[in-house]
Amino acid sequence: MRIDGRDYRTIWLDDDGRRVNVIDQTRLPHRLETCTLSNSTDAARAIADMIVRGAPLIGVTGAYGLALAVASNASDAAIDAAYAQLLATRPTASNLRWALDRLRSVLARAPVGERRSIAYAQASAIAEEDVAACAAIGDHGAGIIEEIFARKGRRLNILTHCNAGWLATVDWGTALAPIYKAVRAGVDLHVWVDETRPRNQGASLTAFELLGEGVPHTVIADNTGGHLMQHGLVDMCIVGSDRTTRAGDVCNKIGTYLKALAARDNDVPFYAALPTSTIDWRISDGVRDIPIEQRSAREVTHIIGRAADGAIVEVQLTPDGSAARNDAFDVTPARLVTGIITERGVCAASAEGLRALHPDLAD
Ligand code: MRU
Repeated sequence: MRIDGRDYRTIWLDDDGRRVNVIDQTRLPHRLETCTLSNSTDAARAIADMIVRGAPLIGVTGAYGLALAVASNASDAAIDAAYAQLLATRPTASNLRWALDRLRSVLARAPVGERRSIAYAQASAIAEEDVAACAAIGDHGAGIIEEIFARKGRRLNILTHCNAGWLATVDWGTALAPIYKAVRAGVDLHVWVDETRPRNQGASLTAFELLGEGVPHTVIADNTGGHLMQHGLVDMCIVGSDRTTRAGDVCNKIGTYLKALAARDNDVPFYAALPTSTIDWRISDGVRDIPIEQRSAREVTHIIGRAADGAIVEVQLTPDGSAARNDAFDVTPARLVTGIITERGVCAASAEGLRALHPDLAD
């Protein structure tokens, strides 16, 4: 997708065919910088420090991280060590385990001498599949937006939370892909962008993306959505997911659940858009079974931004001595989700709905 009129992806192989380049998302929106990952420890650090983030991109980075490990040592022991190191970086998103498992099982069957080329080919295949899946999610989701637009016959207001755009994937995004495709199809729409405390992925990343694509948008404080819905100013909510259960519970960035509650109270349709690699078919009860990442309290007590002189600075919000807690995700129960959009189409957020659309994956 576009930044200043130029097309980018979030992750790509270096010209040397070995190292991996990523956009450093901790520097956005104020600086566009890239970062080169030279080994699996670099990849693990990039995920843990959120240089890359977003469930699908975490998965692809994990896959390239394992390929980087294989490039220096293709033994079973080295692969197992890198697998464990990468898997431990972020516990909530399914895509990381999904990608690492896929790579490891292919490598386990391959002769040691061929593992390096196989690992890179697999990681690149996962990246390309992610692009195709997100583009298909965009097409399916755009259909929903076009239908609402035709029914209402006026500019639509769509609310999104966190960043589930192209920066969270390799390209296109999940929740934002339908918006990009609908805009390209001529739908007149405007996006309410939840700032998404504590790390502000909405204010910094979603706003940056929408600006790059020329999509009208307004950043709002996280607490504003319910009020806007009460006043008829939201026609649809669409979010991404880090892990979705086989019963349709959607785990996503902290605060998503509150938006879904407000949406239900105001009859606003609430959709989750996600590639099938996000679905954890092993579990049904998201509140009980999804591990919620606990991040540093400093992300709550401090905030990072650009000062008047252009310097990127961190300032403290809270008094010295106050405790802070930082749950990174929450779970929206399936009953509050109007529908799930995957690369296969749109289905009900229920065990039956997900199984009917993905019979080969569900069993
Ligand atoms: O903590 P983050 O920034 O990785 O959280 C990202 C989200 O919550 C996204 O909504 C989710 O990963 C879906 S991304 C297409």
